[in-house]
Amino acid sequence: MTLNPKIEELRLKREQGRVGGGEERIKRQHDSGRNTARERLDILLDPGSFRELDAFVQHRSHDFGMDKQRFLGDSVVTGYGTIDGRLVYVYSQDFTVMGGSLSEAHASKIVKIMDMALKTGAPIIGLNDSGGARIQEGVVSLGGYADIFLRNTLSSGVIPQLSVIMGPCAGGAVYSPALTDFIFMVKNTSYMFVTGPDVVKSVTHEDVTFEELGGASVHAAKSGVCHVVGENETETLLLVRELLSFIPQNNMEDPPFVPTTDDPLRADAELDDIVPDNPNKPYDMKEVIHRVVDDGRFFELHEAFAPNIIVGMARLGGHSVGIVANQPAVLAGVLDIDASEKAARFIRFCDAFNIPVVTFVDVPGFMPGTHQEHGGIIRAGAKLLYAYCECTVPKLTVITRKAYGGAYCVMSSKHIRGDLNFAWPTAEIAVMGPEGAVGIIFRRELNEAEDVNARKAELVAEYRAKFATPYVAAAHGYVDDIIEPRDTRPRLINALEAMQNKRDANPARKHGNIPL
Ligand code: HXC
Repeated sequence: MTLNPKIEELRLKREQGRVGGGEERIKRQHDSGRNTARERLDILLDPGSFRELDAFVQHRSHDFGMDKQRFLGDSVVTGYGTIDGRLVYVYSQDFTVMGGSLSEAHASKIVKIMDMALKTGAPIIGLNDSGGARIQEGVVSLGGYADIFLRNTLSSGVIPQLSVIMGPCAGGAVYSPALTDFIFMVKNTSYMFVTGPDVVKSVTHEDVTFEELGGASVHAAKSGVCHVVGENETETLLLVRELLSFIPQNNMEDPPFVPTTDDPLRADAELDDIVPDNPNKPYDMKEVIHRVVDDGRFFELHEAFAPNIIVGMARLGGHSVGIVANQPAVLAGVLDIDASEKAARFIRFCDAFNIPVVTFVDVPGFMPGTHQEHGGIIRAGAKLLYAYCECTVPKLTVITRKAYGGAYCVMSSKHIRGDLNFAWPTAEIAVMGPEGAVGIIFRRELNEAEDVNARKAELVAEYRAKFATPYVAAAHGYVDDIIEPRDTRPRLINALEAMQNKRDANPARKHGNIPL
């Protein structure tokens, strides 16, 4: 049988690694510590599962000598494959072809698979490595970006969208990843910024390197743009695979059930002593999480950003859950602007994709101060409150220690549709902490006291005994049960199973108006 010469030529080129921008540029890519677009797909996808589409597409431009440099597939590789046997759509920008710059053809290839992903209800993963808009194509390239932005927005909350930044991602190009659910970055070899160091220098006279302006550590810790950082490309792509294992294919499905050998009835006596006797002493909430979830595996997101709150994925009895937890070991677990926004966005992701939310509470309140007030803690705190209120997936809550003031209401309380709310005997649920409360309600008495400190200590002890406990809240039904810390895992798994068929809905409307 005669083989079609064009297909045969492409097959040979692929086999010999001759696709892309040529050997010299591939060498340069490797020398910079980066893999090629296809090598990355080999790491990301199940072996042999990738099916490329549009490999014959070339750019359509003739200006600036472009008719003399055409590459099969242009500057992006697109198609579909599987991760753990589950369908995903992928695009991988090819920096060896004109710096991975986005031409009309490049954009239309991405748009095609975005449409297919949405129609078939499968996640889409973009591997970004691009010099931005194809300068030779002008506005046509900008139009291509806008076509992608529209689809990112329309797909939001319908299919999971993951972005992996593996090289440059600059200018308006950053807004496609920014519209997706999660951004992964690779340490030292990826960067994102709206305007690069040269423009920064000419406008603000600041000297700043690519890494300082938009490297992985900056976006992971300071801006919060990046959710997960990998040490290198392989680790980053394997983390993408793992995150997907917690997430359903689309908003109509449940997350995958992953059987575990970790006993659902496993009690953990160490948890009984984890909260220190001194209420002002910190402890590590991550230890609580690790001790409770299946096999101690917690996939943390946004780890370095606003570490006073913890968010991430885990499993309980094989069921995927999103965990939100105050972290008393950082800033006493206070809610500030960044923490509120971080948690709000995560809760909305879980809600959109049918992932139950488990909240561990130890929060002294909202962060005081002009910096926070002027920065909009009212707006930011409202986002978190809104996110919890509108969330209709099963919501389980464990109050380990402090649940004070407005933060008590916000952190998945019963009043805002918490489904099953538990408290440890160490819980303190009140309008404010004992010192603050005594200072206000006994101000006159304390002013007149002979020994102010002694009287204050007495009043604080009295207040603590009466109010800083879970029993008043439990008497009102605001917590459903007071549980031994050691039983947290079995109780949560039992509660999750009791909530399996939960159905709840919000009023019909075009959309709510979250205080952005
Ligand atoms: C066309 C481009 C290109 C671009 C790079 N190349 N960017 N071609 N359009 N935007 C080409 C180069 O000419 C070169 O071609 C090859 O890609 C590799 O580029 P180098 O500069 O050699 O690589 P490197 O030194 O690693 O530098 C990477 C870079 C730099 C930092 C990304 O290329 C750069 O600054 N590019 C321009 C970035 C930019 O300003 N883009 C527009 C942003 S605005 P050869 O043939 O030599 O291999 C934007 C608007 C989007 O994107 C708006 C959306 C709404």
